[in-house]
Formats: sequence, C-alpha cells, structure tokens
Amino acid sequence: MVTSEVAAESFGPVVRPRHVEHVSYGEQTTDGAGVKLTRVIGKDLHQRLDPFLMLDAFRSNWPDDFIAGFPDHPHRGFEAITYLLSGRMHHRDSAGHEGVIEGGGVQWMSAGRGVVHSEMPEQENGTMEGFQLWLNLPARDKMGAPWYLDVQRGEIPVFVTATGTTVRVIAGSSHGVMGAFQRPVTEPLLLDVVLPSQCRLEQPLCPAFNAFVYVYRGTVTIGDRAVEEGQLAILSNDRDSDGICLVGEGAAQLLLVAGRPLGERVVQRGPFVMNSEEEIAGAIRDFKAGRLVAS
Ligand code: CO
Repeated sequence: MVTSEVAAESFGPVVRPRHVEHVSYGEQTTDGAGVKLTRVIGKDLHQRLDPFLMLDAFRSNWPDDFIAGFPDHPHRGFEAITYLLSGRMHHRDSAGHEGVIEGGGVQWMSAGRGVVHSEMPEQENGTMEGFQLWLNLPARDKMGAPWYLDVQRGEIPVFVTATGTTVRVIAGSSHGVMGAFQRPVTEPLLLDVVLPSQCRLEQPLCPAFNAFVYVYRGTVTIGDRAVEEGQLAILSNDRDSDGICLVGEGAAQLLLVAGRPLGERVVQRGPFVMNSEEEIAGAIRDFKAGRLVAS
C-alpha cells in the first residue's frame, strides 16, 4: 500500500472550540436499484448544513445489499463525492468519464448542467463500505460543464499528528496539508480521521462555515458531548469560535466536513438540485428530451 504521507505544519491550538448543537442517527433506506444504505443527511438539513445536501453511508458484507448498484440515472446542479473505505466501484457517465476506485479512493463528479451516469459495485465478495456526499453548486455554476475526477487511495495526502492521529485530507486543507480536491466558493473541507484512544485532533475552522462530524467507528468526544458510532453531530456556529476539537474515547474513526454556506434557495426533486421550481421543470424537460445525455 502506498500512502502519500506528508509533513504537517505545527498549528496553534484551538482555544474556543465549537459545541455540538444536535446529534442524530441516519435513516435506513434503499436507493438506486435497491442498495441498502443509511441516509445520514437528508432534505431536512439542507438549510442547516448548506452547502451540503446529502450524506449516505453504506456498509455490508452481503452482495444482495449493494450489487444492483445505481444504474443509469441523471443529475443536475450539484456535485456527488463517493468515498470508498472498502470495495470496488465503477463510474461511467454521458460526458465520457469513466473510472474505478477501490478502498480509500474518491470519485468526485460535478453534474453541472447535467449528466446521466451509473455507479456500479464491481465485487462479488467482501465488504462494501463507504459514503456519498452531495455538495451544492452556486447558482452561477449550476449550468456549467460537468466534470469528473477519481483519486486512488495512494494519491490522497495523509498526515499523522505527534499524538498519532491519522488524517486523510480528501478536500480542503488541514494543518498545512493540501487535500486531493480544492473547490471554489464553498471551499469544502473533507477529512477522514482515525483517532487512537484518548488522542485528539484540533482543526481551525471559520465560524461562518457549516460543519458536521459523522462517526463511523467508536465514540468521539466533542466538548462535553460523546458522539457514538453511527451518529451525526452538527457543530454550532458560535461566532467567537476558532475551530473544533475532537477526542477519541477508545479508538474512533470519523468524517469531519465543513463548507461555506451559499445562502441560496435550494429546490430538490430527486436527482436535480436547483434554485427554483422553474429550473427543476427545465431539468426534467431536458432529461426527457435526452439533452442531459448530450451534454
Ligand atoms: Co448518481
């Protein structure tokens, strides 16, 4: 296994950390052609977690839970980020992009004005585990050209803190380490964090950015609040806060996600996320007329 371990800059401590505002479990559901998953973030959090629209988590050893995958379906107006912890996933879209990622890899798909794509598991045995995060696009970019990029495990910058916390910097930057993806306007931070027992991670964060933690192994303490495996913790936007501080209660693993809110109206109908009902109607019309495939 190759990892691009890089030296982390030493960083000033976070002295006024954010608090946990709300904790919730996701909902069990199915999507695509019958993939079992947990919807950690859904429509009810669009406003609170702007610019993030959705977070799905999936984890199964049973092919029946995932093998049907997500055959051809359209999107317009946002970006979908797939991060696999284990398994193998094949992406193909109507803009001519294609790629396969395995455990530790990331696929970043910007739908822009529209794509039809498929996301299909390519494994018959073993665990399929990972996440899909939806990131909104600013109104001015929703009708831009679609793009796609995949990054394999070894290409994602990783650093280990002095106390042994491992941080994979998927997007944004942490402790001076630039992540694999940088996106304008919303400037998303997406970190996969492995916290050994009683270790901590401090991450400076602008108070205006909306932020959350999803714990997928173990328990993490944020302030005086224990956040358990499978829980989403929404972090307060305390105006005088300077970041967040995470402590592992025993070994823990989590996603830390933050981004600048767009403050624009969000109208979602299934795979289309626009700013008005008229634009949604336009997306459905274009899809039915085959214009998303041609983009
Ligand atoms: Co999709």
